[in-house]
Amino acid sequence: MKETEETIEKYRKAGKILSDVRAEAVNKVKEGETLLSVAEFTENLIREKGGEPAFPVNISRNDEAAHTTPSFSDKAVFGKDMVKLDIGVHIDGYIADTAITVDLSGNPELVKAVEKALEDAIRTVHAGVNTNEIGGAIEDAITSCGYKPVINLTGHGLEQYIQHAPPSIPNKRMPHGDILEEGDIVAIEPFATNGGGKIYDAGNAEIYHLVSEKPVRHPSARKLLEEIKKYKTLPFAKRWLGNNVDFAMLTLVKADIIRPYPILKEINRGLISQAEHTIIITEDGCEVITK
Ligand code: CO
Repeated sequence: MKETEETIEKYRKAGKILSDVRAEAVNKVKEGETLLSVAEFTENLIREKGGEPAFPVNISRNDEAAHTTPSFSDKAVFGKDMVKLDIGVHIDGYIADTAITVDLSGNPELVKAVEKALEDAIRTVHAGVNTNEIGGAIEDAITSCGYKPVINLTGHGLEQYIQHAPPSIPNKRMPHGDILEEGDIVAIEPFATNGGGKIYDAGNAEIYHLVSEKPVRHPSARKLLEEIKKYKTLPFAKRWLGNNVDFAMLTLVKADIIRPYPILKEINRGLISQAEHTIIITEDGCEVITK
């Protein structure tokens, strides 16, 4: 989708807030710290700086790849984990998306591999680049470090209030891809693993999204739906809605008004590292808005 100068500025502003927030959030990830305190710190900092969380902070550990966020009274603490923070900020629905790995597990090479993959991928980008070339750069970087890319996760386009818009940006060389044009805005997000290189759905997470606004009769569910509508089509956390929403949530899920995102885990329980930046394609390269 073609953006205007005004909407591009909103992406840039979201990206700037996100860079600052990421720098502070990584310092909070320590052994013994609760995941919930890191999630709340990060989401509150986004709001203090004038943005809104584009999705709940994803805090995925070890073999978890994505769609994990703490519950309302989550007591889990960090141990010797490989921790991924995936954070999004939006300004009026214009989203910047970034991820970083904080390694408490003693596997820094796996983190270096994914960071190199992101750098190499960004270096291939220019107006007219095919997404399969980006995937090839990611695959080559990760395999040259002795690991595997996670091939059934991809980067993605971004549109107003849509976090995962086409095109997808593969994490391996593909037979066919899409051409990126000047002004396109995409998130590139390689994942590397010492496991099998694929993820599977490992049950329901704490993250949901609205799929249709059907009428709902039950008063508590109707009231909750009004709350949820303010997130529009963006993902939201169950914990954002308070402590006592189990019945109303279930009612909305059963009516297929909201849907949960499944937690994604590595098939061989391998460790996963992740890195992500949001970029604007330019004629001869790109502008990284989450630098
Ligand atoms: Co993303």
